[in-house]
Order: sequence, then structure tokens, then C-alpha cells
Amino acid sequence: MIRTTYIIVSFILFPIFILAYDYLPDQTVAITILMTLLLIGWYDVFQKKNAILRDYPIVGHFRYIFKAIAPELQQYFIERNTDGKPFNKNEISLIKSRSENQEKFHPFGTELDFYADKVQWLGHAFIPGKKMAEPPRIKVGGEHCLKPYNAALLNVSAMSFGSLSANAITALNSGARKGGFYHNTGEGGITPFHQQGGDIVLQIGTGNFGFRNNDGSFNDEAFVKKGTLKEVKMIEIKLSQGAKPGHGGVLPAAKNTEEIARIRLVKPHTNILSPPVNPEIKEVGDIPKFVKRVRALSEGKPVGFKLCIGIKAEFIKLIDTCIEQGNLPDFITVDAAEGGTGAAPLEYSDHIGMKGDEALKFVVQVLKEKNVREQVKVIYAGKVMDGFSLFKALCFGADFCNSARGFMFSLGCIQSLRCHTDTCPTGIATQNKSLQKGLDPTLKSERVFHYQENTLKSFLEILSTSGCNALSDLKPELIQD
Ligand SMILES: Cc1cc2nc3c(=O)[nH]c(=O)nc-3n(C[C@H](O)[C@H](O)[C@H](O)COP(=O)(O)O)c2cc1C
Ligand code: SF4
Repeated sequence: MIRTTYIIVSFILFPIFILAYDYLPDQTVAITILMTLLLIGWYDVFQKKNAILRDYPIVGHFRYIFKAIAPELQQYFIERNTDGKPFNKNEISLIKSRSENQEKFHPFGTELDFYADKVQWLGHAFIPGKKMAEPPRIKVGGEHCLKPYNAALLNVSAMSFGSLSANAITALNSGARKGGFYHNTGEGGITPFHQQGGDIVLQIGTGNFGFRNNDGSFNDEAFVKKGTLKEVKMIEIKLSQGAKPGHGGVLPAAKNTEEIARIRLVKPHTNILSPPVNPEIKEVGDIPKFVKRVRALSEGKPVGFKLCIGIKAEFIKLIDTCIEQGNLPDFITVDAAEGGTGAAPLEYSDHIGMKGDEALKFVVQVLKEKNVREQVKVIYAGKVMDGFSLFKALCFGADFCNSARGFMFSLGCIQSLRCHTDTCPTGIATQNKSLQKGLDPTLKSERVFHYQENTLKSFLEILSTSGCNALSDLKPELIQD
């Protein structure tokens, strides 16, 4: 109907416009607007790919304009403080204040509906525990490790150069240097932007990016060049990621620049797929063998693996196999199914992999049952973004934590949810140089530093409120649903 109307109207309007042309006050502007609209309309009518535009020429575009800015409209005009997903406005604003080194107080009382929402809570003690002056550090390194590392309680989780911009990586690493915590490279390998003086955890992704042969297999020599750098403190072998376990990863062609391709040792401007599992791993027994090989290549640094728990029996078998081979990892990073990603299929983000709380408790329980809990440190990542979420993870058995999206918010992320499109408005998740200009690495590194520092301060206060004097006093029963 609208289509037919458009065709008729444009046939009528066009001659009227020609006749009226001499009487128009600003002919150039008028003709440009009219011709543009006519051309768009005719294009819409004759193209066949999009039914809405074909049936509703010109006006149909409003649907796509509004759809493109829907996250912003939703966030600015519709959402309440407790609504936004994955993180609500209150959470984001808390991180923003902590990053700006400002006190954050909430007026009037909680906005959560305690009786409808599943709110986890801590039973506080009559007498507070002794407040620690400094947050403790945790030593990582089992019996085969020659260079143990003392980790902070909160660190930057794996996010690669490629999914994040050069300026974002520079700011994260500089912030890590100022605060004395580590920065995980993610699966894209190590770059000059990571080398700002902060401690590095070097991740070996399933695509072996940065240390790969042409067929995608692991290249020992290329790895040694990076793994033995003094700023690299630990090595993490990625088995799976919570937001897309069993799927591998995609670096979209738009983000695969010449520079990234050179660092990753891949072809530029193509979609780069990382496989669901590292080609070095054909069966469970290959995992501890790979840990041993990498540890030797790195000259004895702590080596562990990161995974999202799937089939419980497989994880138990993995730990049994590590014990049989005498090759325990120095750490295991448990990634929650509700964890983040640059890009993943929705089904994988929504329905695959074990939820964080359950996975963390399960991993700790298995390590205890197998009598290896002391040798293997447990790192947890999954929406750890404030003092309470850190406290909860440590109660559930984590030794320390990583945060990805928390640190993205500290960089200024506005949760516009377009990390996969190369159009990130804040310059964080884009390779577009002009968008990156908005992100000043020096200023943002201060925010990264303050966010981590103030989150740990909040954690120490909650620790004292719980009545505990030491991390060893923390236990799952402290957290209630
Ligand atoms: C933009 C982005 C990129 C990521 N890239 C990687 C990666 O390269 N390797 C990896 O193991 N995990 C990656 N992750 C997952 C995070 O390291 C982390 O495990 C997960 O997001 C859970 O932490 P969070 O809830 O604090 O975001 C990425 C996450 C985000 C948001
Ligand atoms: S602001 Fe950038 S990093 Fe944050 S969600 Fe949007 S696209 Fe992703």
C-alpha cells in the first residue's frame, strides 16, 4: 500500500517540483533534499533484500535508525537504576565513582526488591573483624614452578588486542602498573601496548595467536620469545570461555587490521576463527602435557588453564589425569557462563556452560576431594565488579579474581553493546583510529588504578563486617540467598 502510494506520489511530486523550482527560496538545499529522498525511495522500492524497505520506502528506515540507537534510548529514557543488563545503572555508576576516586553513597535505601529478586546477602557479625591495612597477595606456583608469582586479589581479565583498542590496552596495562596488579593479554598475544610496565599474564588462546605455525599449531620458538619476557609473570592456557564455551572465537574482518594480523601471525582483513579447542589438545591427557611443555618453555613460570565448567565428570577426569601424570596446573581460572565476550552466538552466551557460583564451588570441592587444593590456586571471573562480588567469590573458594567488564567500565564503557561492530563509541572495543582518539590512555589508566584500589578497599571493609580476620576464615556459608 505504502509502496504504491510512494510510486504514485513521487510521480506526481516530481513534475510539481520542476514547475515550482523557480519560486523556491533556497533552491540548492531544496533540490538536494528532494533528490536524496526520491533516490532513497526508488532504491527501496526496487531492491529485493529487505521487505520492510520495499513495502515502506523511506519511512521504513526509521525502524533501523531507532533500532540502532535502541540501547541508548533504553538506557537513557526507559531503564530504572536496577534494570540494565548485563550490568544495571547502579552498578555502572558505582564503578564510575570508584574509577574517579570518589566516595559513592546510595540515598534512601535499597532499590532492589528483596522479596522478588534473588538477592544474595552476608550475615554481618556483632563485632567486626580486625581491618587489614593492606590487601593480602596470593602466592601462585606449585611444586614444579621455579618462579612463583604473588598476585593481587583483583586483576584485569583476559581481553585481547583486537577485541580491545591499542589505547584501551595501554590504559589497562598502565593502570595495572600503578596498582601492582596483573593484566591478562587475552588470546591475541602480547603487543607493545601491553608492555607499559604492568605485570602480564600471557594467554595461549585456542588459535595459538602470536605463537602459531601456519597450520594453527603451537610454535615453541615463537612462544619462548614472549613467554620468557620478564614482565610475563604467569601463562594461562585457554580451554574455554564462559560466554561461548565450546565455540571458539571470531575476530571480525573489520577489526583484523594489518597490525593485528602481524601480531597474531594471521592474514589481515579476514574473519579469524579460533577453534573450540587448541590443536595441541586431542584428548584430556594432552592438557597436563601441554601445561608441562609450556612451563618448561617459560623457564618455570606458573602455568594454568582457564575454563568454563561443562560436563562435571570431564573436569574430575582432567584433575585425575593431572595427578596421575604428576603435572598439576599452578592455577585454574574458572570462567562463569554469565561472563563477557567481544562477540558470541546468543545461544552460547545464554544457555551453554555452568553458572559461576556453582562452577566455582564445584571446582574447589573437586580439588579438595583429590587433596590438591593447596597446590592449585583458583582464580574466578564472572561479574566480579565490586567489594561484595569479590567477597562472595572468595567465600565460595576462589583465591583471587579477575574482572573484564568491570575494568571496561572503568575505562568509560557505556554498555552500548556494539563491541562486535567496530563502532564502539568510547574507543574501547574498536580498531577505528578516530574513535580510539577519544580514549586518552594516561587519564584512563588513573581510572583503572583507582577502580581496582577502591574495590579492594570496599572488600576489606566487608571482610571486617563479616567478623573475619583473615581470608582463611571465609567460607561459603557466610553468603545466603
Ligand atoms: C571484550 C571482551 C573480550 C574478551 N576476550 C577474552 C579473551 O581473549 N580470552 C579469554 O579467555 N576471555 C576473554 N574474555 C572473557 C573475560 O576474560 C572474562 O573471563 C569474562 O568476561 C568474565 O568476566 P567479567 O564478568 O568480569 O566480564 C573477554 C571478555 C570481554 C568482555
Ligand atoms: S561502549 Fe564500547 S566496549 Fe562498551 S559495550 Fe559499547 S561497544 Fe562495547
